[in-house]
Amino acid sequence: MFDLTGKRALVTGSTQGIGYAIAKTLSRYGAQVYIHCSSDDEKAKRIAAELGTDLWVTGDLGIQGCAEKLYEKTGGLDIVAANASVQFRTPWDEIPPEEFDRQINVNLRSTLELMQVYIPGMQAKKWGRFLAVGSVQQYRPHAQMAVYAASKCAIQSLVHNVAKQVACDGVTVNNLVPGVIETPRNDAALADAGYARKVLAGIPAGYAGKPDDCAGAALLLCSDAGRYITGTELVVDGGMSL
Ligand SMILES: NC(=O)c1ccc[n+]([C@@H]2O[C@H](COP(=O)([O-])OP(=O)(O)OC[C@H]3O[C@@H](n4cnc5c(N)ncnc54)[C@H](OP(=O)(O)O)[C@@H]3O)[C@@H](O)[C@H]2O)c1
Repeated sequence: MFDLTGKRALVTGSTQGIGYAIAKTLSRYGAQVYIHCSSDDEKAKRIAAELGTDLWVTGDLGIQGCAEKLYEKTGGLDIVAANASVQFRTPWDEIPPEEFDRQINVNLRSTLELMQVYIPGMQAKKWGRFLAVGSVQQYRPHAQMAVYAASKCAIQSLVHNVAKQVACDGVTVNNLVPGVIETPRNDAALADAGYARKVLAGIPAGYAGKPDDCAGAALLLCSDAGRYITGTELVVDGGMSL
């Protein structure tokens, strides 16, 4: 049910954090996985080697057409996890247009572009898995990340919409929604003991998740085990959104 032998996959933003954990797990279950980051070829190559593959691609998803360029290198794929994102911490009334554009382009527009580029091939093969990555901020927005949260809400809408249209072709489209996960992105913020205490107080489980906590959920949604699950939000947050 979870076997991915013969499947070809891309996990965007997989040189660290949640993307790395997803890539590691998909590859452990037999998929050939492309490792990806924005621009550092050496890093992508090194991480791919760590996972025992020479499949890697780079490309800044904030640049229009990046998905198309990735497709030129990877060809059609069975599984795409649109995991990469950017976030800026700025009070809502000070958010400059550049930060708005960057978050909307990297997080939202690239998710649509990856769908547009990769899903038609999946439909033709009558099997495909598209995994978007949302955030607990869809339900518990952080005061300094209004646009980041909005980009994740918009991704959820995209997932609902496209999932319904491609289900008849054996393609599922889902949204993995993490809570607070210990990744390099959060290192600095969680190193502040006062801030960490405040964050943990809002998590019923009482602790922040590890990247691997997201990997099993991703495997479910990317394998045959998840063939009847589409358009869903799978929340992995220790209860934070409740
Ligand atoms: N960590 C959390 O607590 C948490 C909570 C909720 C949701 N999420 C979501 O989970 C996903 C992964 O988060 P994470 O914490 O693991 O992130 P992370 O540690 O910041 O890693 C981000 C990855 O995305 C890549 N990336 C960033 N900007 C990119 C761009 N413009 N083009 C291409 N690749 C880019 C990075 O590569 P470079 O080094 O090249 O930039 C890196 O590989 C994100 O969608 C995030 O919004 C995370």
